[in-house]
Parts: sequence; structure tokens; C-alpha cells
Amino acid sequence: MSRLEARDKVTGAARYAYEYQVEDVAYAAAVLATIACGEVERVHADEVLAMPGVLAVLSCENAPSLRNDPDDGELNVFQSRRVSYRGQLVAAVVAETSETAQEAARLLRVSYRDARDPDLELRPPSETYDHEPYGEPVEIGDPDDAFANAPVLVDATYRTPAEHNNPMEPHTTLAHWDRDDHLTVYDSNQGPTKVRSTLASLLGLDERQVRVVSPHVGGGFGSKGTPRPNVVLAAMAARAVGRPVRLAVNRRQMFAITGYRTPTAQRVRLGADTDGRLTVLAHESNEQASTVRGFTEECVNPSKVMYRAPNRRLAGRLLTLDVPSPSWMRGPGETPGMFALECAMDELAKALGLDPIELRVRNEPENDPTSGDPFSSRNLVACLREGARRFGWAPDRKGLGVAAATYPASRGGSRATARRVADGRYTVRIAAIDIGTGARTALTRIAADALGVEPSAVTVEIGDSDLPAASLAGGSTGTASWGTAVVRACEKLTADPAADEASVDTAAEVGEQSGYSCHAFGAHFAEVDVDFDTGEVRVPRLLGVYAVGRVVDPVLARSQFVGGMTMGLGMALTEHTVLDADGGFLNIDLAQYHVPTCADVPSVEAVWLDEHDPHVNPMGTKGLGEIGTVGTAAAIVNAVHSATGVRFRELPLTPQTVL
Ligand code: MOS
Repeated sequence: MSRLEARDKVTGAARYAYEYQVEDVAYAAAVLATIACGEVERVHADEVLAMPGVLAVLSCENAPSLRNDPDDGELNVFQSRRVSYRGQLVAAVVAETSETAQEAARLLRVSYRDARDPDLELRPPSETYDHEPYGEPVEIGDPDDAFANAPVLVDATYRTPAEHNNPMEPHTTLAHWDRDDHLTVYDSNQGPTKVRSTLASLLGLDERQVRVVSPHVGGGFGSKGTPRPNVVLAAMAARAVGRPVRLAVNRRQMFAITGYRTPTAQRVRLGADTDGRLTVLAHESNEQASTVRGFTEECVNPSKVMYRAPNRRLAGRLLTLDVPSPSWMRGPGETPGMFALECAMDELAKALGLDPIELRVRNEPENDPTSGDPFSSRNLVACLREGARRFGWAPDRKGLGVAAATYPASRGGSRATARRVADGRYTVRIAAIDIGTGARTALTRIAADALGVEPSAVTVEIGDSDLPAASLAGGSTGTASWGTAVVRACEKLTADPAADEASVDTAAEVGEQSGYSCHAFGAHFAEVDVDFDTGEVRVPRLLGVYAVGRVVDPVLARSQFVGGMTMGLGMALTEHTVLDADGGFLNIDLAQYHVPTCADVPSVEAVWLDEHDPHVNPMGTKGLGEIGTVGTAAAIVNAVHSATGVRFRELPLTPQTVL
């Protein structure tokens, strides 16, 4: 079965948020702060309002009041004079054309007062005096005693830089108010239900007054996981000019206002006996947040489920700085966290003279080592063994590296309806979203299975907040969450042959504790060539082997794995965003922020094991959107160590670093 919207996408018939045609549309362009800390003194709106075609200038000086969002200060657009980071949204121009809006935004003068030097430095974990602990720290056994007595010890600090999501489609919105105070937004996001509730609450509207339409989304990777300020601004601008307004956050602006992965400094300490059995695992992570939004990356989470170690210490700390606000990026927490842990495991294997696969096998836990719960299924060892066989793993061969992967299998409550239409056909409706993953296709297959019909007999409607409310496309939970609701709706319909329609809400079902620790696992293998003259690292081969429960659609699954691994390769070798001394990101375009292209990845292969897991959800799926990025960078860096004998603990491994 091919992707249902494949033809529409290839031929250009698939419509994205910015492309909707409405009458009398105007255009907004954002203006970003040029200082990092201080206050807006004045927005010199008059100067640009005199330009032909300029309709309005919005800023803290004239914006309507919002019901402030307490969790995400980024959404409180123009509600304060305060500037909290360089690149923060401070004004917008609305004009007749996109060109006029952009030109006026460029010319708009904003003066500032009380500017002060920003605090930008993510200090190392040893200087913890001003870092806020977050999350529930884990302290099991007596880690200090175990360190003191461990015959073999690894104690290393790993650093990952700021990294930015670069979906092909930037954050775009077309906002349109009707006469009766009803707002429609065509918007690029990862969850229309969430965008609707956020807009309604910020604007003081009833949810029935807001509709979010998003049938196609050109990628998000987490950057669209929660509504970003663009959707609020577009709604505000459309109301201000009494016309529909289009707004695109351009590529350079995305680097400032739509989130990034926090840089991390992670200290990992592993103690083992001489047989390679871990006696203690400590993982401490320092991350940064902005003063606007206290987002946490939670790098230590994967260390809760990896490896049997009787003593364990896991702690995350957050340093609030005058920087743009971090947010989700594919595999938040797990991706940087497993880079650190899996490099440390490689270091330990070398210190013990053990095959790194054997080290991992020896430390495979029986139950979840932190919660004590049994795993619903866990096939890490099988992934490592199968990968070793396929890859031609040889621990003594130079230039090969391996790392484990893990990602939680969870789900959110959603509603869905299933309806009998004419001639044995069915329609299934749910406000799910396809961010490029193929969700529409996967849900069609799931519905067809549940109804016992061919996929061609089922139409699945998604991508619209007027459909039954659904959870986000985030945390690799889409298929599990929406699939559960779709299956339950179809089961209910099938159970009652007289019914035309069945509706369900899975909130109660997904809220029940299963008593199992539910996680996907995998193994990544990398081969590298290191040029000792230029410092260039090339990756001729990458292999991922996964145990992710049932795979609904092999073509779509493979795309997710290969895309995730490619992102991991970018993390390892090229992706990093640099803050300048003034607090703005410096390399804010695709020429200077290098996302891997085909030439960078000659061979990326992804396979999976047959895994049956009756505990996770009615489909037996575990989610597979993010696990491909988890551990990939560690496998590459471990391969570079194997090739060079040099241990690199800071990403990315650019030629400059390697030389
Ligand atoms: Mo993904 S970072 O959970 O949207």
C-alpha cells in the first residue's frame, strides 16, 4: 500500500498552510529583538506606516491583551516590554504583499532601554551552584561507596551543542476571523487539538470558536509539537486588520523563535567489576533554559532503563540563561542522553578489554532497573546480535562502532468515530495529524484491520480540530495513541451491526497503569573513514536494528528509521548552532547549519525484529519516529575512536575538532 497522499504531494496538489486561497489576504512579517536583555523603549511604527501598502504595526505598544499562558511564556506575544533574548519576537508588520511586509519589517526601528550583557554560558556540571534541579532525581543504593570500591571506573563529561530542527516547511499560519468572532487557522503544527485549545485560552474564546486546519505538514521533529508564537501572532494580526493574514516564520527566524535542542554537559560515571558487571551507573546532565520558558530536555531518562547496576544516581539540572527558548527536537532527552551513556559504555568496554556488545549483554537487566517493573518486552540483546551478524561486526576491526538505542512506548488519550457509509465503506474521523510520517496511511491500515475490510474500503479523516479531539504527534506516540482510539471505535461499530456510527474516548483506557515498563529498543552500527590529513569523517555504512513491537507499514517505518539515523549522523558530524557574544545564533541558514544530504550518507540500512507485545496497546506497536536518532551519534563517535584511538567527547566531530 503506498502513502495515500503520495500523488498529491508529488504533483503539488497537497495544500500546506500558507497555500490556502482566501479572499483579500494580507501578509505579516515578524520583527525580532536586536538586543538580548532589556526593554523595548519605543517602536517607531509611524515611519513604516507611511509606506504604501503597510496596514498595521503590532507590538507591545498596541497589542490586545491575552490571557497569559503560564507554561509557555513564548506564547504571550507582545504582552510585555521586556526583551529576554536576542531574536525574541518584538513587533510585526502587516501589509498588502509579502514583499512590502518584509521590507517594512526590515526598516522598522525599535529602540531599547536598560540593555545589559546577557548571561550565555552553560557552565560545566561541577559548578552547580546556580543550576536548578528538575525532575525526580534517582538515587538507588550507595553510589559513592560503589565508586570508591569499583575496580574499573569511567568518569567522563560529554558535551552536545545547540542543534536546530529544520523541517522543509517552516512554521506557517493563515489566520482568518469570521464576522461572528470565529477564528480559522490553516497552520503547520503537530497537533490541531492542542493548537485549538491554546488559541482559545489565550484569546479568551470558547473552543468552538476556533478551528485549526492542517491536512499536510512538511515536518516538525518537535519544533511544532506545541503551538509556537507564530500562530498567536497570525490570529492577532488578522484581527487587527480585519482581513485574513498569512505569516511564515522564515528560515533565519526559525533559529530564534521556534526552539532548538539545548546544549548539554553530561557527566557519566560507570563502575564495574573486572568481569564487566556494572556496580554503579551515575548520569548527571546540565541543560539550559530561557527566562521565558522552563523547558527540560531530561537527558538522564534513558539511564533509568539501561543496564543492570545495583547503585544508580541520575540527576538533571537546568541553568536559566538569557538565551532563546529550547524546545523539543527528535528524541528529546534520549538523543543527547544516550550519546553520553553509550559513549561511556564504549569507554568502559575498552578499559575492560571487552567486546562492547558483550559488555552490554552482560549488563542486561531482568526488570526495569529503576522502577522494578517487568518490561512489556525487551529485545535489546537480540538487536545487538542481529546487527552484529548483518554488519559483519568485529570488535578488533578498526573503524567500526556500536551503540544501543531505547525510547519509551507510551500513548495519550484520544477520541475517534467510525461510521458506516454506503456500499460497505467506512469513514473514520480523528484529529490526528500527518507531519510527513504517513500517519493517514498507517491509521487506514489499522482501521481496515479492525473492521476486517480492505484498506480501500476505509477513508480516514485527520488534520482538522473539528474532528474528534486527539493527542499530539510527539514522543513517538502518534500511531499508538490514535490507533488505540481508531481500533476501539471500529470494534464498537462492528459490535453493533445496527449502528451507523460509533464514538470512543480512550482517556480512561490509556490512563490505566499496565504494570509494565514499556520501551522500544534498538542497536546502531556505524563504519567510519577518517581522513588523517583533513580531519574529515565519512560514514560509508550505518545500520539500525530495532525491536519496536508490531510494524504497521514497512515502507513508512523504514522511512522513519532511516530519517532518524540520518539526523543522528548530522548530530555526530555537522549540526551545531553557535551563539555569538550578543546572544544570537550565528549560523542561521542551511548553508552554515549543515543538515546531512544524500552525499553524506551513502548507505543507511534499517531492519527490525518480529516483536509481539500484547501489553502496549491493541495494535502491539511501540512507536518508531524517534528511536532512529537515539544512539546513532554514539555509534559513529565510537567508530571514530576505533579508527583513530582518540576519544572525542564533544559533538559535532567536524574536521576542525578531529584534527
Ligand atoms: Mo517529537 S521531539 O516528540 O515531536
